[in-house]
Amino acid sequence: LIGRALQNKLIIPDFPEFAATIQETFEEAKNNETGELADYIPQLARQDPNAWGVSICTIDGQRCSFGNTSDHFSFQSSSKAPAYALASTLMGSDFVHRHIGFEPSGQSFNALFLNNNNTPHNPMLNSGAIVTAALIKPELTAADRFDFIMSKFREAAGGEYIGFSNATFLSEKKTGFRNFAITYLLQDYNCFPPGADPVDTLELYFQICSLEVNCESASVMAATLANGGICPLTGKKVFESVAVRDTLSLMLSCGMYDFSGQFAFKVGMPAKSGVSGCVMLVVPNIMGIMMWSPLLDNFGNSCRGIQFCQDLVTHFNFHNY
Ligand code: DON
Repeated sequence: LIGRALQNKLIIPDFPEFAATIQETFEEAKNNETGELADYIPQLARQDPNAWGVSICTIDGQRCSFGNTSDHFSFQSSSKAPAYALASTLMGSDFVHRHIGFEPSGQSFNALFLNNNNTPHNPMLNSGAIVTAALIKPELTAADRFDFIMSKFREAAGGEYIGFSNATFLSEKKTGFRNFAITYLLQDYNCFPPGADPVDTLELYFQICSLEVNCESASVMAATLANGGICPLTGKKVFESVAVRDTLSLMLSCGMYDFSGQFAFKVGMPAKSGVSGCVMLVVPNIMGIMMWSPLLDNFGNSCRGIQFCQDLVTHFNFHNY
């Protein structure tokens, strides 16, 4: 980083000025007090409604953070992006997409229906993410698969914080009736690869949702996606570049629940939200951004997160189009 700075080759040349605008955008979004906490899991209902954090990591490792950026929170559905990148890296895109489609579903993330080929619509909603879990190291034991995923996510986060909330996992398991229904629907339509145990796979899906991150660590993961799969802090290749390209394409079209079309229209960048109130945003070839604020809009997206993303493209020309 210092070498690039001395050669004046930083991806954001005047980073302090950039960070000052980010801070203003952060402060403006902080005034937004609309939205509701997710209440279907007690651990999410107990989150601090005032929490708000934004962390940025560029592809050359410049960083800034504002607000509650070291607080731990549940990774939830933002995990669907790196989980898919991992499955695609391991199995190849053709194999993965024999089992999962490419299209937005136009329905809620936990809808009980498949596409016309009887596969999940895409890997960014529950049915697709459950099948994705089945494609990650199926030959390992449940314990080794969990360890493997943790270690890969940690690599993507440059060794920074990735934890696990057992309480969240137990609640997911206890109250996830719809996810059980989705899993049995998937089983009935032979959506799983041969040998996959549906309920073990669902447990792995719940475990992935119950991983914990903070804005800082997850911004490094987002930066790894912005950087073609190479972690900007360590230089280590975590995901195949084609898998990352596919992940970003599907985040753009399907990453923000039923708001994905509007988000692609207004913000024009790949993002993936989670019900804990996190939004992982990727500015391809420039930076990764992680936002977290637990108050959600009717679509299940963080109100402050959405406002921040929309304001961001008024200050910088990050919109892809
Ligand atoms: O499957 C569930 O109910 C959650 N654990 C997933 C949460 C989430 O963020 C919604 N996503 N697509």
